[in-house]
Amino acid sequence: MSDIAELEQGILAAIDAATSEAELEAVRIGALGKKGSISERMKTLGAMSAEERQTMGPLLNGLKNSLTERLAARRQELRHAAIAERLARERVDVTLPVRRPPAETGRIHPISQVIDEITAIFSDMGFSIAEGPDIETDYYNFTALNFPEGHPAREMHDTFFFNPREDGERMLLRTHTSPVQIHTMEAQKPPIRIVIPGKTYRCDSDPTHTPMFHQLEGLVVDRTANVANMKWALIEFCKAFFEVDDLQMRFRPSFFPFTEPSLEVDIQCDRSRPGELRFGEGSDWMEILGCGMVHPNVLRMSGLDPDEFQGFAWGIGIDRLAMLKYGMPDLRAFFDADARWLSHYGFRPLDLPTLFGGLSG
Ligand code: DAH
Repeated sequence: MSDIAELEQGILAAIDAATSEAELEAVRIGALGKKGSISERMKTLGAMSAEERQTMGPLLNGLKNSLTERLAARRQELRHAAIAERLARERVDVTLPVRRPPAETGRIHPISQVIDEITAIFSDMGFSIAEGPDIETDYYNFTALNFPEGHPAREMHDTFFFNPREDGERMLLRTHTSPVQIHTMEAQKPPIRIVIPGKTYRCDSDPTHTPMFHQLEGLVVDRTANVANMKWALIEFCKAFFEVDDLQMRFRPSFFPFTEPSLEVDIQCDRSRPGELRFGEGSDWMEILGCGMVHPNVLRMSGLDPDEFQGFAWGIGIDRLAMLKYGMPDLRAFFDADARWLSHYGFRPLDLPTLFGGLSG
């Protein structure tokens, strides 16, 4: 057998023996690559005599072409074999239940949902969102809000105090979101239009009170803000939040140290059907929030001249709004981290509350 025929046999055997595309590629490079055995032979053609070249030239070229074809054919074979092998190995059991993705099974907590709903409504009215620290000083939680030293209103807040620091100052967990009013007025000049959702703390626990709960504070300060503006904003908010076209609200005189006048607000509801509570109809009332015109002392202590600026503020319990809107009877269950409760009362994560798309989906 001529050495060319031997070379061909060797390469063909290697092609047949290749068990993967990578192995086959190695064989191709070994034969037809730049330094491959066939390519090296081609390079010797130049030094041959004319007759020799006439026989060797076509021989080598023919060999090159036939090897190229064989390589291509074997590559196809290997590819088909790989697909057939995968098809045999990978099976889909069509009788298995569909596994639902995390976006389908995860749930948004009702508190987060209600905060998203409330902020969507007030953002639409031109309010910004502000936040402040959960751990406060006595000054921001009480003094700057016009609670005099020793005033009984301080006691009514059932405050959690930390141990006194070396300088005697006792930090506390804020009992309401109102201190953020002060932080905001210290940091920015009017006009101010903010809502402040956040965690608040009081030493209290029963079906409608938990030691940690949530409030939404609102604050508007400019040169002309008045009670009529406040009533409009709160009525519009309640209609949008409870998703009713009309809703009666009752404003009653009340007392908060940081507002003058102070008002408590009830909304119209219907309790006549047992186990059912409807808003925007009926002849019953339910207290829902506190509000008032910002007290001149509060403006003054925050660095604003009460002869130049005036404002209104309000505070609402977010947890209570959630309980009322979504019919959850026991507040303590909100913070039990029970997955069954959350999957029942929670909201689908991709249904973002918007005014145009619907708040509660
Ligand atoms: N901070 C009050 C509370 O927790 C609620 C409140 C009432 C806030 C009237 C206000 C307001 O801003 O004007 O009981």
